[in-house]
Amino acid sequence: MYDAKLEISRLLTPHVASLDIQEIYDMLEVPPNPEMGDFALPCFKLSRIMRKSPVQIAQELAAAVQTNEHVRRIESISGYLNFFLNRSQFIKQTLGYILESGENYGSSDMGEGKTIVIDYSSPNIAKPFHVGHLRSTSIGNSLYRIFKFMGYNCVGINYLGDWGTQFGKLITAYKHWGSEEAVKKGLVKELVALYVKFHQEAEQNLELEEEARQWFARLEQGDEEAHRLWKWFIDISMEEYQKIYDLLGVKFDSYNGESFYNDKMQPVIQELKNKGLLKESQGAMIVDLEEEGLPPCLILKSDGSSLYATRDIAAAIHRKNTYDFDKCIYVTGVSQSLHFKQWFKVIEKMGYDWHKDLYHVPFGTVSIGGEKLATRTGKVVLLEEILTKAIEKTLEIIEEKNPNLENKHEIAKQMGVGAVIFSDLFSNRIKDVSFSWDEVLNFDGETGPYVQYTHARACSVLRKAGEEGSISQTDFDSSILSSDEEYKLVKTLSQFPAKIKQALDDLEPSVITRYLVDVAQDFNRFYHEHSILVEDKSLRNARLALVQATKLTLSNGLWLIGLHAPERV
Ligand code: ARG
Repeated sequence: MYDAKLEISRLLTPHVASLDIQEIYDMLEVPPNPEMGDFALPCFKLSRIMRKSPVQIAQELAAAVQTNEHVRRIESISGYLNFFLNRSQFIKQTLGYILESGENYGSSDMGEGKTIVIDYSSPNIAKPFHVGHLRSTSIGNSLYRIFKFMGYNCVGINYLGDWGTQFGKLITAYKHWGSEEAVKKGLVKELVALYVKFHQEAEQNLELEEEARQWFARLEQGDEEAHRLWKWFIDISMEEYQKIYDLLGVKFDSYNGESFYNDKMQPVIQELKNKGLLKESQGAMIVDLEEEGLPPCLILKSDGSSLYATRDIAAAIHRKNTYDFDKCIYVTGVSQSLHFKQWFKVIEKMGYDWHKDLYHVPFGTVSIGGEKLATRTGKVVLLEEILTKAIEKTLEIIEEKNPNLENKHEIAKQMGVGAVIFSDLFSNRIKDVSFSWDEVLNFDGETGPYVQYTHARACSVLRKAGEEGSISQTDFDSSILSSDEEYKLVKTLSQFPAKIKQALDDLEPSVITRYLVDVAQDFNRFYHEHSILVEDKSLRNARLALVQATKLTLSNGLWLIGLHAPERV
């Protein structure tokens, strides 16, 4: 990749004796305003080493450093040294590289030989798949693709919540108020209704809780009836979740959920005992974390049953043994932060140095129309309803704007679902998001449909030019692309690899989502200001190269956040 910043660092290094090229490279900034140049060296950072004022340093460097074919002008302004690139050189190198890289533009092999485990989605069986799980699914899926694009081996795990005392409650509720017919008809909705009913009834009738405990104990002991019902609830739930994953285009490498670890906890508990970490506290077994300033991590309840943390510890050890991961990433709501802090500490106390490779990637809550979502009260918005509605609404827009579009149901699906994912990945993940239909589906706003529409617009220009794929990186004269809009667009396109790297380092897909909006906006500004299919052959070719590079960047970027890039919309 052509790196203009590196060219500037090369020019500067001989004149800043005490620093090496990497240090200078890291010091260079992009000025807030393009009139101040493409890059700037804030000279106050050199003041102490060079024992001069920033203004003086900037002036002396401006006089000493020579321009060349990459850098056309160097200016000192109030303690900053500003660099102006040779535009045509920059455009030629950058577009050439993008077109040559094609579908691989932005990718790298930095992850070769390394494995990343990503634990995401992980809905709870017999509970609805709600918008919180969508966030986990879309963030996890995007991180999976980002790491893969950078050459890592990825293992996506859907750690299903398929074990725990809630199954005792559900079986109890089913026995009292349920029927095979009703469950077959209502599916997860009916299971949720039974679960809600249990909690309502249990407020008056305390015996129900005891009954639920007994059913769960029977389940743990392998009782035939309890096991059959549990398995049935899983099958019903999975079938429903699978529909959602199909809509979202998400796949997993493993569905090993909590129940998979039932027989893997005992050895871990033994290990904790052997290492002197297990302590009794009010009948329960805990790992004390007082020294670490954390509440104790509960390992066994007083009745001997295991907990969420117990299973997570067993699962992490099993994953380390199975995949020898470089990183193991957990994508859940921020409300689980303490849980992860606690059991990560337990792993550390067990003496595993790979505790530092465990990452909790938390995200904020999702509300719809100002209301938070909870299962117990039954106030949930099912994701399937949201997706279906998004698709319907997109279809309405297509019917209005482009009724003759081929394959419009498939496109409506790609855009409607894309709109929902995009809005989910737009803000920093830790921020709470509030979902609004008008914002999510706006074709002109900072939305998925807007970026997809821009991509399709680029495709349509290329189709019209009748040359899709035939533009080579050499048959255009870059010096022709001289306008501010063209230069700005190329600069933005050139940032793609750095943006992916940042998204990967920060485990933050929103870096890419927002970047795609920048690309789309810069492209549309260029598109409105300039005709592309002009008579002049070399100008036409140069602009088509720019369109082609934009199309590649958008489709690669959309893929990284889990969206389709339809060629016509
Ligand atoms: N099933 C949990 C929930 O829905 C998320 C599981 C996250 N993964 C983990 N290894 N704890 O809240």
